[in-house]
Amino acid sequence: MPEFSNPFAILKNDRKLTREELIRAIRFMVAAEYEAIQLYQQTAESTDHKLARAVLLDVANEEKEHAGEFLRLLQALDPEEETFYKTGYEEVEELIAKLKK
Ligand SMILES: [Fe+2]
Repeated sequence: MPEFSNPFAILKNDRKLTREELIRAIRFMVAAEYEAIQLYQQTAESTDHKLARAVLLDVANEEKEHAGEFLRLLQALDPEEETFYKTGYEEVEELIAKLKK
């Protein structure tokens, strides 16, 4: 699991998560999905066992769906964050357009 922070350290037994704590936990979950994708794809590419490869690649794709679910949830919980993503997309679109010239 990613170790850039431990959102579970913020959990208390005597109360529910705040909105900000929930957002941080969801970000951690997105990172965990990407890490799982990496692990499954890397393992699939490292074996000649056809069934293992097929299962690992299938599960990797399921993790991509999970990442999408968490990203959509994050967008619902924190719509402002989406504006930063859009700015990043636009910057890359500009680079793509420059490289096509
Ligand atoms: Fe998952």
